[in-house]
Amino acid sequence: MLNGFDTVICGGTVVTAGDSVPCDVGIRDGVIVALGRDLPGGTRRIDATGRLVLPGGIDAHCHIDQRSSAGGYTNDTWESGTRAGLAGGTTMLIPFVAQVKGQSLHDAVRRYHELADGKARSDYAFHLIVSDPTDEVLDRELPALIEAGYTSIKIYLTYEPLKLDDRQSLRVLETARREGALTMIHAENHEIIAWLTEKLVAAGRVRPEYHRVAHADVAESEGASRVIALAEVADVPVLIVHVSAQDAIAAIRRAQGRGQRVYAETCPQYLFLTETDLVRSGWEGAKCLCSPPPRDAANQELVWNGLIDGTFQIFSSDHAAYRFDGDRGKFSGGFDEATAGFHKIANGVPGLELRLPLLFSEGVLKDRISLNRFVELSATNAAKLYGVYPKKGTIAVGADADIAIWDPGLTRTVSIDMLHDDMDYTPYEGRVVTGWPVEVLVRGETAFKDDVVVAAPGNGKFVRCERSGMARPLGRSVHGFEPSTGAFAPWS
Ligand code: URP
Ligand code: ZN
Ligand code: ZN
Repeated sequence: MLNGFDTVICGGTVVTAGDSVPCDVGIRDGVIVALGRDLPGGTRRIDATGRLVLPGGIDAHCHIDQRSSAGGYTNDTWESGTRAGLAGGTTMLIPFVAQVKGQSLHDAVRRYHELADGKARSDYAFHLIVSDPTDEVLDRELPALIEAGYTSIKIYLTYEPLKLDDRQSLRVLETARREGALTMIHAENHEIIAWLTEKLVAAGRVRPEYHRVAHADVAESEGASRVIALAEVADVPVLIVHVSAQDAIAAIRRAQGRGQRVYAETCPQYLFLTETDLVRSGWEGAKCLCSPPPRDAANQELVWNGLIDGTFQIFSSDHAAYRFDGDRGKFSGGFDEATAGFHKIANGVPGLELRLPLLFSEGVLKDRISLNRFVELSATNAAKLYGVYPKKGTIAVGADADIAIWDPGLTRTVSIDMLHDDMDYTPYEGRVVTGWPVEVLVRGETAFKDDVVVAAPGNGKFVRCERSGMARPLGRSVHGFEPSTGAFAPWS
């Protein structure tokens, strides 16, 4: 039944991380079953002439209906978050299950599934935020959950309710190594931030722009360097998320140069916002407040360089969407000028829908990165890092037909009204962006077309992640000592 296609996407240019080829895509039962010239038949034919046919994006860092470190909740639900993703060419999300101290991880996983299952419009998996690495969590819960398809962990070096000390971080890394999971790290030095915050507040410097001072570049580079050292001792790969600044990038590059498996992620806010956006009139700067904060133009250029030279493997949104106003807003419970301060503003910016159009417009069309690199950064590497490749993240025979068809010449001016999330602002209002997805398929079915998200809540399925080959240890001992076995062979 070679020609028994449900759908044929014809006439477009298929782009993967490796190739750009004019060819058709034949889809049956939600899976890509043929790639070739002039594929015949198909119950439905989608004309992609003049268009780019890309793997649907995977946003592997987004906070959906998640309890924040300050106790509030990010605003987007699974219905609105996946809606925004689809409209921006993203067909899979990997948000977080966030463990609260004292809570069992199994309980946290169950609760987050209750929020997602039956609501998501596109497919999804979860990372596990471990804030309480007890023996029970490390020795029993994590092994069982990793086996069940939750193969990535996130830990924090900062935020009071989440932060781990170095010994706790090492124990999580040791567990990740033993069980084959990948650990993501929010790497900022907590004490530097807390001390600077105290001093800034005492000096009456509480407006949003002082957040950037409190979250000094050195807090990030110290956190990154420390995590790299811990990962070296534990002999386990790590992924440093939302990297924004020169010295952190340099530390990551040095580690990679030594052959250490240190992966890194950056996000739109470090390419398309700067610290001056925190100085907007009134308290509007809060709209761009996130951690690490947007830095200066020189750092932006260095982040671009990291995308170009391969220091960064993935580009995620870190969508942590708090509305400007309201209960689930930036000023939790409402704005009061007398008591407001940067240290009380919810950290995070929205970016799920614009992640890929912004990178396409400024990266691909301005010739900073190739189309193949765009695909690698936006989909393929996330699939590889988090164990869903090649089911997701590429266009290949046997892969799920998660496909975004892009019009590379379509120009639009960004406004909050055109976006599909549940926000009352976008930090990118007024930006002119060229290159947008015009039709998006999830497992072969059209999920977004002509500005309308047609996939219903519940269309999305939970995807079990396999253990990633990129999480394998190098097998390098500490001066001949193997912490995992106790063996010591310094001179062999
Ligand atoms: O400011 C940020 N990034 N908020 C989201 C939570 C996190 O640290 O990823
Ligand atoms: Zn983080
Ligand atoms: Zn985040």
